[in-house]
Amino acid sequence: MKIEWTETLSVGVTAIDSEHRELFNKIGTLVDAMQAGKGAEEITYSLKFLDEYIETHFTHEENFIDEYYYPGGTTHKLEHDKFRKLFKEIKERLKAEGPSKNLSIQTSSFLGQWWIDHINKVDRELGAFLQKKLP
Ligand SMILES: [Fe+2]
Ligand SMILES: [Fe+2]
Repeated sequence: MKIEWTETLSVGVTAIDSEHRELFNKIGTLVDAMQAGKGAEEITYSLKFLDEYIETHFTHEENFIDEYYYPGGTTHKLEHDKFRKLFKEIKERLKAEGPSKNLSIQTSSFLGQWWIDHINKVDRELGAFLQKKLP
């Protein structure tokens, strides 16, 4: 499954869309490295980049939530926390087991599916709200 951002995933807020696009690029880099059987060092490196970018993006959305008193904010933040927990498990497995074909397939399908679901539902609702609030 190719993980990439397309217009159909737009939530109507340019800043959020461009971060999602960049996130998908970084997920793609990680999954490609895993599937190409790259060494642990390269995989750890792209994982670190992705990890940092995810935090930047979550913080950005959570700042919007707080700044504009978004009514669905608590649920939205909980979804981010759930992801943080699941992603932490992947990072720990990768550390413990090292890269493998199996883990790369699981990582790829989990990341791709989680982000598509989250964007289509939770981020889209936030985007619709922000469109009315943002200058
Ligand atoms: Fe979100
Ligand atoms: Fe998002």
